[in-house]
Amino acid sequence: DKGNYRHFMQKEIYEQPEVLSHTLGAFVDMTTGRTKMPKGQDLDFSKIRRIALSACGTGYYAALVGRYYFERYARIPCDLDVASEFRYRESPLGDVDLAIFVSQSGETADTLASLRYAKSQGLKTAVVVNVEGSTMAREADVVLPTLAGPEIGVASTKAFTCQLMALASLAVRAGVDRGVVDADEELELTRVLAEAPRLAREAIHTEERIEALSREMATKRHALFLGRGFSFPLAMEGALKLKEISYIHAEGYAAGELKHGPIALIDDTMPVVVIAPHDRSFEKTISNVQEVAARGGEIVLLTDASGAANGPVEGSRCIVLPKMAEILTPIVYAIPLQLLAYHTAIQMGTDVDQPRNLAKSVTVE
Ligand code: M6R
Repeated sequence: DKGNYRHFMQKEIYEQPEVLSHTLGAFVDMTTGRTKMPKGQDLDFSKIRRIALSACGTGYYAALVGRYYFERYARIPCDLDVASEFRYRESPLGDVDLAIFVSQSGETADTLASLRYAKSQGLKTAVVVNVEGSTMAREADVVLPTLAGPEIGVASTKAFTCQLMALASLAVRAGVDRGVVDADEELELTRVLAEAPRLAREAIHTEERIEALSREMATKRHALFLGRGFSFPLAMEGALKLKEISYIHAEGYAAGELKHGPIALIDDTMPVVVIAPHDRSFEKTISNVQEVAARGGEIVLLTDASGAANGPVEGSRCIVLPKMAEILTPIVYAIPLQLLAYHTAIQMGTDVDQPRNLAKSVTVE
């Protein structure tokens, strides 16, 4: 039931503050602020030398953020593959001790085959999964639930941000297990994660401004999304969201890759969405944005107040989000990207919840 919402996708975007908090509750004891494993699950990261992450589509972008999280907060090196490659690549797994799969449905054919492959190679397997009792939830050694509730819209929204929340809390947990995160840091990080619902709510408030921008986006045939560090996976997720529901061709790039090719596409008709919270990557990203501006590209900058004050680029439009800790930016900045895709699709008159050629769950290869 869509309730008062126009589409399931809109409803699911609006549910994020609440479901993020549910998901966090599975990984953090909210009374003590200590990380924990979800009920009935057992996983100790202290002896894990390397993690292999794998998923499809939006789950893959969540896994990419997951890699940044595990490397930053737990200092565990990670491998990452799209599942359709992992299952056939027959890569030497070397010192990989744990394989983590990310799937909303728990039924995606390539991800399931990858999970089975990992098991056949004697790896411990874990799945970050939204559908309880799904095939992957039954077959993985460890189940890491996202508590996003049923997601009906084909374009994943709340499942994605809950996957990020699960991976962020798990990475902190892993850091604790390995002695990389001490007790005070653990409390500080979980306190920060608990701010996600409030910040998600504030991000939803950008909707009107995004809707205005979407009118222009809807006149375009192509769009570019750029980000660095934690924002690089988001650039790809933002592009995926836009293309799957509005059918506008979009590409997501690491901002530093711009001058290695895509800059050739920039002229005064090219919209460039830049994800640039005022974090350690900010200055570098802004210098890439200057290059876009010099060629007349139409820039939309997603940033915070200090970003807007420190990196004003001629002719760019800013969507200003609240200031937040780095661990939260992928979760919160995903929301304006979802809204941009959503409102652009509405402008285009496409079928938002059931885009052409797509299925909610891809159970064949
Ligand atoms: O159910 P899964 O998370 O395994 O699905 C993976 C992809 O098919 C899915 O994320 C797809 O890319 C979405 N349509 C993205 O919005």
